[in-house]
This record gives sequence, structure tokens and C-alpha cells, in this order.
Amino acid sequence: MTLRVSVIGTGYLGATHAACIASLGFEVVGIDVDPEKIAMLAGGKVPFYEPELEELLAAQIKSGKLTFSTNFQDAADADIHFICVGTPQQTGSLAADLKYVDAALDAIAPIAKAGSLVVGKSTVPVGTAQRLRERLISLNPAVDLAWNPEFLREGFAVEDTLKPNRLVVGVVSDAAEAKLKELYKSNLDANTPWVRADLPTAELVKVAANSFLATKISFINAMAEICEAAGGDVTVLAKAIGYDPRIGSRFLQAGIGFGGGCLPKDIRAFMARADELGATQALEFLREIDSINLRARSRVIELVRKDLADDLKGKRVAVLGAAFKPDSDDVRDSPALDISVQIQAAGATVVIHDPKAMKNAEKRFPVLNFANSIEDCLKDADIVLHLTEWKIYREINPVAVKSLVKNAVIIDGRNSLDREAWQAAGWKFRALGRSSSN
Ligand code: UDX
Repeated sequence: MTLRVSVIGTGYLGATHAACIASLGFEVVGIDVDPEKIAMLAGGKVPFYEPELEELLAAQIKSGKLTFSTNFQDAADADIHFICVGTPQQTGSLAADLKYVDAALDAIAPIAKAGSLVVGKSTVPVGTAQRLRERLISLNPAVDLAWNPEFLREGFAVEDTLKPNRLVVGVVSDAAEAKLKELYKSNLDANTPWVRADLPTAELVKVAANSFLATKISFINAMAEICEAAGGDVTVLAKAIGYDPRIGSRFLQAGIGFGGGCLPKDIRAFMARADELGATQALEFLREIDSINLRARSRVIELVRKDLADDLKGKRVAVLGAAFKPDSDDVRDSPALDISVQIQAAGATVVIHDPKAMKNAEKRFPVLNFANSIEDCLKDADIVLHLTEWKIYREINPVAVKSLVKNAVIIDGRNSLDREAWQAAGWKFRALGRSSSN
């Protein structure tokens, strides 16, 4: 008998997980308390932009393997229940807010069938899984709980879910591990590394991985600051150190730093949890990682001020990119929007373009101005900022667009444009961590 699976919480993680598990041949029901989201998903539409996901989702719905519901009872006969709800940063604190995780567990615990397994996927402070397991067993002793963190990147969510580079399962019982092995059989057949851990270690793997990634980015952004002070070029430096396989070249792209729904909140929640555990000093360095990251945003604003002779009032600033990274319409803690808002608050008129994230950006920051085309965005600009490295921006012909702007000055906040081509076309080119030669 094939496993039946429920996925509780159909946001980014849950919707992707539900569609991917269904595509492996399992029967999946996605549960969410938001009726609008459920109606959309049930109609085969994904409420956010993620390459490949909508096609996959629609195909699974059509095949009858994937259904959606707001009624937890529809999940009652599943063999595995994945908890995929959000754990946002609490207002007024660095810690994660666990109210959705707690509510999901309380909803599923009393109705889950005997022998079924609840599996947490949400990113939580270490110790949460143990607490939830105790609560689950007190409500329904015939059910077990495991933790199976998720490492998917936005923009590659389907690929990362179907072909993960490792599977980590935090389990207490062999039976729980066996059930997860049955679910992930195709990955195991493909030799995906399988790491069995205890509950706290499984929870920690996720925040440790995100902390390491954040550290790598802030490290190269710190080097960018040094390069600026010393007249070096951080892009060359990154390339050179990246050839050392112990360092590796990925996540060494200097620029305006990390944002999004995961890295910033995860490192903060990790620090808050370390405080509670009496291990504050161990993660003290993450405070600096956070500061370097936020400083990168300020440094772009300083470059703008410098170029506009410290007078932003009435200036038109064109911003290319609103999403926190390319191939995503996610604007949560987007460095691009943070910078835009601060520049607009200083008196400039900011006009933003993004191929996918404009609707979300406008919803969050209606005071900003939005242009439907790159040309409209650049028109009459006193300065242009490249803040999210979409491919279409790398394809801009600097010669062709020069006549649109008032001043041909561009700041590459992501170090991904072809500096020589822009300079050859007569643009003043500025970037973080690279001294300007014109
Ligand atoms: C991250 C983790 O990569 C993923 O494993 C985890 O499950 C969720 O958090 P995501 O938030 O989708 O994924 O984005 P990621 O690709 O990690 O990028 C995060 C931020 O770092 C983006 O704002 C990106 O622009 C920035 N970044 C990334 C850099 O500034 N420089 C780099 O070299 C790489």
C-alpha cells in the first residue's frame, strides 16, 4: 500500500513539498488555514513565482494524486504528516515565533491515526522538536514525531526538493526512520546521502547551514570593505580564493548582501536561542555577520550620496530589481527594497523595475514608484542602481540605454554587470569592493 501524506502549511515550502511528493507517486493532501491560498492551489495556481512548480502542481492535481483542503479531517488518515508552516521573527525580539507550528501540531495530534508519523520541516529553535514530541505523545500516544529539515533555495525549489544534496532525519525510533526511508526511496536509490540524527542535531543542521552561508556572504562583503579602503578588487579576490577547494567559489558574490525569508531571521533566531541555552558567546560572531550585511546596504546609499553631491532631493533614482534575489518574486527583507525606501525617504524619487516582484514590492511599499519596463525605469534617471541580478539586466545594452538617462552613472550592487562594456559605452561605473576607475 502506497503511503498517504499530508502537508500542513502550503506556503513556499509546503506547496513545493506537496507537489514534489505527489510526483513521486504518493497520495498527498495539502492543508492550510488560508482558504484563498487553498482555492488557488486546488485550481492549479501557485500564489508565488517559482520556476517549474506550477506545471508540476497542475499535473499532480490532474492525476488525482494531489488535493488541497482547509479541513484538517482530510489529513486524518495520512501515514505521514509534514509540518511546513512558517516560523517568522517575533515582533520586538530576535526569536522565532512558533505559534503556527504549535497550532499545526495541536490540530493534527488528536486526529492522526495510530501508527502515523508527524514530521517537522519548518525551521525551529533547537529543542522545539523534543517539546513537540512530548506534547504529541501526551495527546496521542500512538503517534511518533521526527524532524526532517529542508534546504531548498527559492528559484530552485523543485530541483532542491526532488534532488536534495542530502537528506537529514532526526528520529527517536527505528520505525520512524524506516517510514521516512520508504517515502524517500527514490532518493536513496539515487545515492542521496542519508544522515540519521537525534532531534536536536537535525534541528541544528538547518540553522548551522544557513549560518555558514550567511557567514560566507558577510565574509566576502567584509573583504569588499577592505578592498575599497585599500584600492583592491573584491571580484578578483573572490575568484582567486574560490579556486581553493577548501574555500570554494560559491556564495562569494560580494554586493548588497543577503535578505529573504530565511538567512536573516534564521541567524537572529539562532542567536536568541543560544542566549537561552547559556551559550551566547558561541554565536556572538553572528551579530557581526548581521552588521556587515546591513552595512552593505548603507554603503550603496553612501555611494549614491557621493555621486549626487549629497543632495538627493528631487533626484530621480532608477532601481533595477526588487526581489531579494533573482528568479524569485519574494521581497521579504529584500536588500534592494530596503535601500530604495531609504533613498526615497532622503528626498529622491525612486523608480523600480523587477520582472516578477513588482506586485509584492508595491503591496509592501506603496510609496515607491514602479515602472513596467526597463526603459521607463531608466528614463531621466540621475543615477541607476542595479540591485537584483536578473539575467535580463545583464543583457541590457549600455550603449542603447544611455540616451534614456539624465546622467550615465550606474552602481552595480551585485557585482554582476560587465564593467568594461558599461564603461566603454561612456557610463560611470561604481560597485561595492571595486575602486572606480572613471
Ligand atoms: C537559503 C538557503 O540557501 C537554503 O538552503 C535554505 O533552505 C533557505 O535559505 P534562499 O533564501 O532561497 O535560501 O536564498 P539564497 O540563494 O541562499 O540567497 C540568500 C541571499 O543571499 C540572497 O539575498 C542573495 O542575493 C544573497 N547572496 C547569495 C549574496 O549576496 N551573495 C552570494 O554569493 C550568494
